[in-house]
Amino acid sequence: MTTAIIGTGNIGTAVARHLVDGGERVVLAAREESDATALATELGELASAASVEKAITDADVVVFAVWLDTLKDLIAQHADLLRGKVVVDPSNPVAQDADGRFVRTLPDGQSSGSVVAGLLPPEAHFVKAFGTLGAESLASEANRTPRAVLFYATDDDQAAAAIEGLITAAGFDPVKAGGVDAALRIETSGDLHQFGGLNGKVLDAGEARTALAAAA
Ligand SMILES: NC(=O)c1ccc[n+]([C@@H]2O[C@H](COP(=O)([O-])OP(=O)(O)OC[C@H]3O[C@@H](n4cnc5c(N)ncnc54)[C@H](OP(=O)(O)O)[C@@H]3O)[C@@H](O)[C@H]2O)c1
Repeated sequence: MTTAIIGTGNIGTAVARHLVDGGERVVLAAREESDATALATELGELASAASVEKAITDADVVVFAVWLDTLKDLIAQHADLLRGKVVVDPSNPVAQDADGRFVRTLPDGQSSGSVVAGLLPPEAHFVKAFGTLGAESLASEANRTPRAVLFYATDDDQAAAAIEGLITAAGFDPVKAGGVDAALRIETSGDLHQFGGLNGKVLDAGEARTALAAAA
């Protein structure tokens, strides 16, 4: 299986590094192809670099590690290529204002996962994942003991199977929060997001199941 990672910033770099460490093949794409090439060279033979179009074409799973507005643009540009792919969305509905502060870009109660899922062709297999921890914890907490949890949300069995495998390969325990209607819970300010209701805590599997049940 090949995973395309679009965007080589905080989240894209951490996910790519962990997947390669876990033996997964990745193809990296960035706004500047030289950025993707530099990271691929650093990560070694399981990693390669390509244009966004070729990375999506060559992959089974596509992780859009970009900001929500960019993600919407990329889906509009490449919708046809996403048919049949597992599409992974780590985005939070936030952007930086003129003072550099993060502000919510969607109305309360609307998740970026529901927006992204609604833009995809029906043949895509959507899953919300890889955005439930801050980038620093995502980079540093892989393969700890006990394993840290990454929550995911999907209505799609094929997407669930793929993301369970990738989260495990990346050195975390996958825990399903629910369907796409649970995406809000695992996005920033949600009760299951590290910097929402979890107050910075990184959960293990037992703690995650308790948190899921407590809020249900
Ligand atoms: N940072 C966190 O703690 C965190 C936690 C959870 C979820 N998330 C979510 O994860 C996503 C990525 O966050 P991040 O912190 O990794 O952001 P980031 O560090 O700013 O990285 C975004 C990457 O997207 C690239 N990019 C921009 N336009 C592109 C295009 N058209 N094609 C391909 N790549 C493009 C950027 O390239 P350039 O640098 O060249 O513009 C950059 O490498 C966001 O949706 C965010 O809400 C972030």
